[in-house]
Amino acid sequence: MSVSVRDVASLAGVSVGTVSNVLNRPDKVSPATVERVLRAIEDLGFVRNDAARQLRAGRSTTIGLIVLDVGNPFFAELARGADRTASKHGLSVVLGNSDDDREREAAYLDLFDEQRAHGILLSPVGEANHRLIRLRERGTPVVLVDRDGTDSGCSSVSVDDVAGGRMAVQHLLDNGPRQITFLGPPHGVQQVADRLSGARQAIDDCPGASLTVVHTDGLTVSDGRQAGELLLTLPREARPDAIFAANDLLAIGLLQTLARAGRMSVLDEMALVGYDDIDFASTAMVPLTSVRQPAQLIGSTAVDLLMEEAADRHLTPRSIVFQPELVVRASSTIARRA
Ligand code: RIB
Repeated sequence: MSVSVRDVASLAGVSVGTVSNVLNRPDKVSPATVERVLRAIEDLGFVRNDAARQLRAGRSTTIGLIVLDVGNPFFAELARGADRTASKHGLSVVLGNSDDDREREAAYLDLFDEQRAHGILLSPVGEANHRLIRLRERGTPVVLVDRDGTDSGCSSVSVDDVAGGRMAVQHLLDNGPRQITFLGPPHGVQQVADRLSGARQAIDDCPGASLTVVHTDGLTVSDGRQAGELLLTLPREARPDAIFAANDLLAIGLLQTLARAGRMSVLDEMALVGYDDIDFASTAMVPLTSVRQPAQLIGSTAVDLLMEEAADRHLTPRSIVFQPELVVRASSTIARRA
């Protein structure tokens, strides 16, 4: 038979409310009483029924975070920032991976809704959909991360990816290259489309410069490796002066292919810039120039917005947009052919 909180209270010689305080607000209980209750919990093998507690409280103590690609360190850093701020509020972050798939996203939205999540942080697949508005109307705060939610009806925290794309290509143009290739998936990820849009702005303002778009299947290291294989099939005169990769994973995959093929010399005549400035960018075989996103700050700020909304359901959604920062390293500054 399962042990109840009443059994613990009886053995410890305290009220049920005191046991609850020891479990939820131990700072409100004398150390001696905490010790006595914890001993009774251990002696009886009591396990808190979290689901019942959470339902009674109306809201659970978890925040659901749904990311596009759990394999991308950018989202790991975003989750770290979210978790750090959530823990200050006595909350925990539970991570879900949509893998850029709408059905997986919907399944996680259902899960966190059923579990009465304290709130949901979401890096949406495609356009943010009406489902999110219904969640908010039913009392579940929803904040978009890594996406400007201005027209979505949700608060959001993102980076100006148009400015980031422009910054990346302007840096390349300032260092000489004129035939530039943008590497990224053809559709679906708004962040990538915005980076390309910014890249085009920089090219349009530079006479004699050209931008070629090479599509990849996705935004992973493997997709970058495939792009590297394609690059190596091109004769020297057909290769671009520079590549702007939609994220660091693509750029790192491309570098891996060049290294494995013993063709790092390609970089003597081709600059490379990535996006996100994940930890591996600075330690890549050629330290990678990248457009840095403040991933942890995005995550922590999103939790702050979530807590504001949890405290006041009628709060008007806010969109917070951070500016990216160009971090220049060897991959875009080695001497280039004129
Ligand atoms: O997940 C796709 C990309 O969008 C990530 O690399 C990161 O840049 C995000 O903004």
